Amino acid sequence: MSFGYIPTDYNVRCYYKNGKWGEIEISSSESINMHMAATCLHYGQEAFEGMKAFRGKDDKVRLFRMSDNAKRLQSTCDAILMPQMPVDLFSDMVKKVVKLNDRFVPPYDSGASLYIRPLMIGTGARIGVHPADEYLFIIFVSPVGPYFPGGFSTNPYVIIREYDRAAPLGTGAFKIGGNYAAGLRANKLAHDLGYSSEFYLDAKEKKYIDECGAANFFAIKDNTYITPKSSSILPSITNRSLMQLAEDMGLKIERRPIPEEELSTFEEAGACGTAAVISPIRCIDDYELKKSYVISKDGKPGPISTKLYNELRSIQYGDVADKHGWVTVLD
Ligand SMILES: Cc1ncc(COP(=O)(O)O)c(C=O)c1O
Repeated sequence: MSFGYIPTDYNVRCYYKNGKWGEIEISSSESINMHMAATCLHYGQEAFEGMKAFRGKDDKVRLFRMSDNAKRLQSTCDAILMPQMPVDLFSDMVKKVVKLNDRFVPPYDSGASLYIRPLMIGTGARIGVHPADEYLFIIFVSPVGPYFPGGFSTNPYVIIREYDRAAPLGTGAFKIGGNYAAGLRANKLAHDLGYSSEFYLDAKEKKYIDECGAANFFAIKDNTYITPKSSSILPSITNRSLMQLAEDMGLKIERRPIPEEELSTFEEAGACGTAAVISPIRCIDDYELKKSYVISKDGKPGPISTKLYNELRSIQYGDVADKHGWVTVLD
């Protein structure tokens, strides 16, 4: 099993019409029937989220930081003039779709999990550029394999200067499809060149590290966890969790612009997000400037990244106490 789509039994849906959300509907169809003038098809009124459910040793299913995903979806909806989905309705739908597909939540020993994909689209017909009056919110799930089938390991990354993912006052801080479309060429170039993923610099000055592919960036130096502060990156829930765990471990936390040259000073670095928790970084090459920043000298993940990775996964799978109240255990 890799990070791919596997059909499950059910998805859940909710329609927004006449200024309000309707009842939760259960569907076994993988298709959507919609108007050809729907705003999601023309004007990008599309928002999504990504989170996971984990089966513990006790066989119970745990949802990680569900209300934070609900709140991020609300901020995305505000940004592209879509109606907000109430946190309680979002949570009820997540719990329902996971319970309905319980047989697809991978067993504890597999190291796999159930990926949860909520999405909202403007379905109302418009020909001029305006927000829709009708919306559809769907949540589907898919079991996904362990991110590191051969074990937690480092990978090479590349800075692509040729393409920007998002502008400083654009939509980079929101989870809308358009940001990902804007990044497809950089992502393909990185893969074609043999790298794990692409790095974006800030679009205005091309000086500071923004984020990498569909993940935030963090680095470790002098007992400090350092991560970019930028208006064009997605506020990663994994990164926020790692900052908290790093603080619990006695590290200092710095959220600030990170100039590219500083990469040569880091003791450890990683890409972080729901998919991998942490993808440790071996090196970051600047393709156009023909520079290379080697981060892991021995090619192995650093001790602090490894500790953070193990700690976060242990919370997600219920192996250690959830002292920050991040986990919802399903009955
Ligand atoms: C652009 C981008 N940055 C960062 C992340 C990591 O965010 P999270 O930790 O909430 O999954 C994601 C994945 O959702 C992403 O798509």
